[in-house]
Amino acid sequence: MRHFYVKSTKGRTCGDFNLNDTAGGAGRLDIIARAVNSALWLSHSLRRDVVFHTILFGEPNPPIYIKITGEKVRKVQPDERNITIFLKKAIERFEEGRVTQTTPGIFSSRKTFEELVEENKACDFYILCEDGDDISSVDISENAFFVLGDKEDISDDEVKVLEDAGARKISLGKTPYLTSHCVGFLNMYMDRMEEKADK
Ligand SMILES: C[S@@+](CC[C@H](N)C(=O)[O-])C[C@H]1O[C@@H](n2cnc3c(N)ncnc32)[C@H](O)[C@@H]1O
Repeated sequence: MRHFYVKSTKGRTCGDFNLNDTAGGAGRLDIIARAVNSALWLSHSLRRDVVFHTILFGEPNPPIYIKITGEKVRKVQPDERNITIFLKKAIERFEEGRVTQTTPGIFSSRKTFEELVEENKACDFYILCEDGDDISSVDISENAFFVLGDKEDISDDEVKVLEDAGARKISLGKTPYLTSHCVGFLNMYMDRMEEKADK
């Protein structure tokens, strides 16, 4: 299984935003929607072996954790607006004290970053940052859990939580890229690695 986590620093935790204003009123949920597209879609199908995670830290009710499982997701289209409609449903249908499947394959619940890392400690964590070890020099595990920032990098405290869980910092080069481009690159890079290993 391949996992992607993208932090949503200001993602709004109430579904009162306008779908035409995801970069403003929704606290840059446009970045999350594009990352979901890059994490889950192939040309004519979905990646069933990918799980996408985000935690929304924006007002008024943080943190809200959203998990999208490629294996179970249904009816979502790859365009940013449609993905945002499903994110909005996950926020609107959030219920305190329980994990809610808000639409097929999409779940929302209360969860801190520390709890997310603890729950996934069987995975191998990789922190994406420009000053990490070059990805080509690192053997990436088949059970990779990639962690990325949105328009801001993850915090030093979050890096510490991950490093305590054995995370490694990896880089795609010195140039700062958009989150969704990094996710797309990682998927293609991992596909290539798996194709080579199968030969
Ligand atoms: C838009 S960047 C965040 C801000 C960026 N560090 C900057 O200074 O502009 C979004 C995220 O993509 C990942 N990222 C961007 N460029 C990268 C690179 N060259 N190597 C590894 N990760 C990268 C990091 O996780 C980063 O937090």
